[in-house]
Amino acid sequence: MDKRELRSKALEMRKNISVKNRVLASGLITEKLKSLEIIKSSKTIMSYMPYGNEADVLSFNKWVLDQGKELCIPRVTDSKYMDAVKVNDIENGLVSGHFGIAEPEKSVSPVNPDEIDVILVPGVAFDLSGNRLGHGKGYYDRFLSRCSDRVFTIGVAYSFQIFDSIPADAHDKKLKALITEDEFFVF
Ligand SMILES: Nc1ncnc2c1ncn2[C@@H]1O[C@H](COP(=O)(O)OP(=O)(O)O)[C@@H](O)[C@H]1O
Ligand SMILES: [Mg+2]
Repeated sequence: MDKRELRSKALEMRKNISVKNRVLASGLITEKLKSLEIIKSSKTIMSYMPYGNEADVLSFNKWVLDQGKELCIPRVTDSKYMDAVKVNDIENGLVSGHFGIAEPEKSVSPVNPDEIDVILVPGVAFDLSGNRLGHGKGYYDRFLSRCSDRVFTIGVAYSFQIFDSIPADAHDKKLKALITEDEFFVF
């Protein structure tokens, strides 16, 4: 299957997840994330605000702030690029941005991507070699190419989003790990 076919198949599957299963799986993913040594020892974590049926990491984001860690959330700048912006309050500090996704206000300056220790990367489909398929706009590929090699990237997915093999182009950035409601994979 090419990227386009795989994307529409995987999105269709994600669209059909029940509210109950989404809540259940998101809770398991959140608990697993909180228990990871790499998360516990990180100072600056970039997470995301869930779009559509993506795994709901909101309570994880709150926990990051409660721990006194720095939380960064993406903010789209145009049709190609996004920045990571530090957020102190995910309930009041965000506005509705591109694609209706909550994002930090324009007045706050982005962080230097080198400052980030861990990035949680949402996506449409993943494989167990670190490949990831997004929505087809390349935002994360471009953002990750600005980060240091040291940054620990963790894909966040439901188990049904794992496929045997995801087609990858030269610009696609591989992930270092993947977390699902069932398992934590390090590649
Ligand atoms: N680092 C990059 N520099 C320039 N163009 C890029 C870069 N990363 C991705 N792109 C472009 O973005 C588009 C979408 O990338 P793709 O990997 O198919 O999307 P996604 O990762 O969102 O599934 C492609 O046309 C690709 O050429
Ligand atoms: Mg890509």
